[in-house]
Amino acid sequence: MMIYKNIEYCFNKGESKDVNVRGWVHRLRKQKDNIFLTLRDSTGIIQCILPFTEEYNKVTIESSVEISGNLIKDERSPSGYEIHANNMNIVGLAENYPIRKDFSVAYLNTVRHLWNRSRKMQSIMKVKSEAMSAAGEWFKENNWYQTTPPIINNSACEGGSTLFELDFFGNKAYLSQSAQLYLETLIFSLEKVWSSTTSFRAEKSKTPRHLAEYTHLEGEQAWANFEDILKVEEELLTHIVQRVVQNNHKDLEFLKQDVGYLSRIKTPFDRITYEEAISFLNKKGFDMKFGDDFGTEEERQLTSNLDNPLFLISAPVEAKPFYTKINPDDERMVLSADILAPRGFGEISTGGQREDDIESLTRRIKKEGLNPKEYDWYMDLRKYGSVPHSGFGFGLERIVRWICNLDHIRDTTPNPRSVSKSYP
Ligand code: 4AD
Ligand code: MG
Repeated sequence: MMIYKNIEYCFNKGESKDVNVRGWVHRLRKQKDNIFLTLRDSTGIIQCILPFTEEYNKVTIESSVEISGNLIKDERSPSGYEIHANNMNIVGLAENYPIRKDFSVAYLNTVRHLWNRSRKMQSIMKVKSEAMSAAGEWFKENNWYQTTPPIINNSACEGGSTLFELDFFGNKAYLSQSAQLYLETLIFSLEKVWSSTTSFRAEKSKTPRHLAEYTHLEGEQAWANFEDILKVEEELLTHIVQRVVQNNHKDLEFLKQDVGYLSRIKTPFDRITYEEAISFLNKKGFDMKFGDDFGTEEERQLTSNLDNPLFLISAPVEAKPFYTKINPDDERMVLSADILAPRGFGEISTGGQREDDIESLTRRIKKEGLNPKEYDWYMDLRKYGSVPHSGFGFGLERIVRWICNLDHIRDTTPNPRSVSKSYP
């Protein structure tokens, strides 16, 4: 039985219990009369005390073992309980484990297949799992359909510069940067659609928030305008955070995250317009003019003193892809918005209303250096029963990085892919 279930039982009943547990040896200390080991399974850790024998003395760090004994309350042990073991069976004896206390980040990246057993990675992966199921739960409750857009495509969604090209049976194709254009095809049938797919970006620079491969949570809604989609985004994100706070308290505490502030995240999110952000940054000593893009530092400034996410509303036409709708009230701008996570974490989503006008789409596709021929199918969506529609994409790893308070996005995923890094 799992470690945590046993502890819970003893805690509730206020009595000791004979238990059989199995897991991996997390820590180990051998003395003359006793062997102290900390056992780890997917639910937690527990200290076990064994009598010293030749057989038990063979056990090593990260060996897999089955232990039986008596689980009793002990204030001195980290979990408040410990097992006085009377039997241990070594299932898989581990060789000398290569990860020690004095590891470097660079080294840990080369042993990810083992480092994923660490309690840090275990907690982060639990938070990520909860975030994914919370998203699915929110979409289901609100009558959205989950769909499966393609990963191998002929056309770019987010511009040509970050495309991974591949040889597809002798023809050129690309790995998807976003499911958006394909989700747009499905709104004519299902109206509210979402997907969780892997997106690929050939980002050449190494930053704490870019991966070459990430999990993209995207939604697209028919009959929805700009305001409608912002509401969807803030409600979905708030639901994800609430679920994690509710079900991953221990993990967040282990990661030293301030659970109190996360539990206070609420809708509606505050907003700042692009032009307000430019003047705010200039007052802070940045040298920004209309048309400039916000980088990591700018986004950090905009949110460093905030505890709730912030909408960065609208953007210059030239700064956003061809599909963003030009604002009818201000033709310099598009109806696009980013969500910036608080405390300096920066962009975690981009969403907005989609352009309906074929002429504008064609002109901007050409301007991006893309081939309009590849988008004939996309134009059909505007020709046959087009409706006002909007959508968004969240970077799941960006959400997890923020919720878990991590310095670097690499730890939000078991096998991060970035410039020239694909091992293990
Ligand atoms: O802002 P982006 O490029 O927008 C789109 O792809 C839209 N087509 C989405 C849509 O409307 N359906 O990407 C969306 C989000 C970003 O806000 C960010 O959270 C994440 O995807 N993202 C990345 N996450 C990790 N590594 C990268 N290299 C990322 N690039 C984007
Ligand atoms: Mg964006």
